Amino acid sequence: MAFPYQRNRRLRATEAIRDLVAENHLRATDFIVPLFLIEGDGKKEEISSMPGYYRFSLDLLLDEVRECYSLGLRCVLLFAKVVDELKDNKGTEAVNDNGLMQRGIRAIKEAVPEMYVMSDVALDPYSSFGHDGIVVGSEIVNDLTVEILGEMSVSHAKAGVDMVAPSDMMDGRIGYIRERLEEEGFKNTGILSYSAKYASSFYGPFRDALDSAPGFGDKKSYQMSISNSQEALTEVERDIEEGADMVMVKPGLPYLDVVRLVYDNFDAPVVAYQVSGEYAMIKAAAEKGWLSHDEVMMETLIAFKRAGATLIATYFAKDAVRLLNR
Ligand code: PBG
Repeated sequence: MAFPYQRNRRLRATEAIRDLVAENHLRATDFIVPLFLIEGDGKKEEISSMPGYYRFSLDLLLDEVRECYSLGLRCVLLFAKVVDELKDNKGTEAVNDNGLMQRGIRAIKEAVPEMYVMSDVALDPYSSFGHDGIVVGSEIVNDLTVEILGEMSVSHAKAGVDMVAPSDMMDGRIGYIRERLEEEGFKNTGILSYSAKYASSFYGPFRDALDSAPGFGDKKSYQMSISNSQEALTEVERDIEEGADMVMVKPGLPYLDVVRLVYDNFDAPVVAYQVSGEYAMIKAAAEKGWLSHDEVMMETLIAFKRAGATLIATYFAKDAVRLLNR
């Protein structure tokens, strides 16, 4: 049977039937809210390249987390902006049990215990070179860095983090972090691996947010080449073997093919990270009146679900749930 008996438009005729046959949906628990933490009191600074997004001192961050929770959001991903005086090549401050990140984790778990807290694990905010690993000569050395990432993860676990999120792309770090967490008795602390993280130019605004741009060179010797997708399968496979509970593809929208590839090949939940540059592009175009902000935002978010993402890390999380809750 064919046209005129078959008409695809029957299922598009009214809003009711369109909603009834929708294959994908968005809800508050689809989102991970990235949060930027700074030292001080009463501070809320707008990030210039991320309009409508802020860095918070710990006191105000707690209000932000409470608000997120009341909107139905259930997961935050913490990033700490470290003061320059505490940066060095080895990321000494990263393993300080009383560092900003560790204090942040403790305070959130105390104020809003039901919020699921993830923490970024990488040296770049702590590195005087702005690199994700220890620098020797012009090399970002792998194995020494992995040891620090292990201690950093244990330190976050001690502070009460639910899941660590290593974003550094060093080899073997998932296995080492898992081993260290087990040794220290943190068998329930999860690992979200940034498995397929590309050497992308979409991270620019984030590096403004944390003042973490690399001081020399780029990140191409550890982050993935933007030309590759098969390689993402190797990265994901190794990370899952080493003990990752969830895997991430990053950036988001330009890499939806990779999200789908990972979803089709593995059972682990896939997280897509809609990164700072993706946020900035939509904000800038909307400010100019060239795009409809809310509609474009929701269109990008549903695209992640269509591609197979279980969770979406996005700076639009609050905006999106406000629309969904209306
Ligand atoms: C650093 C890190 C980056 C992001 C998350 N963790 C930047 C980078 O690798 O240089 C980017 C997030 C974003 O752009 O929104 N380990």
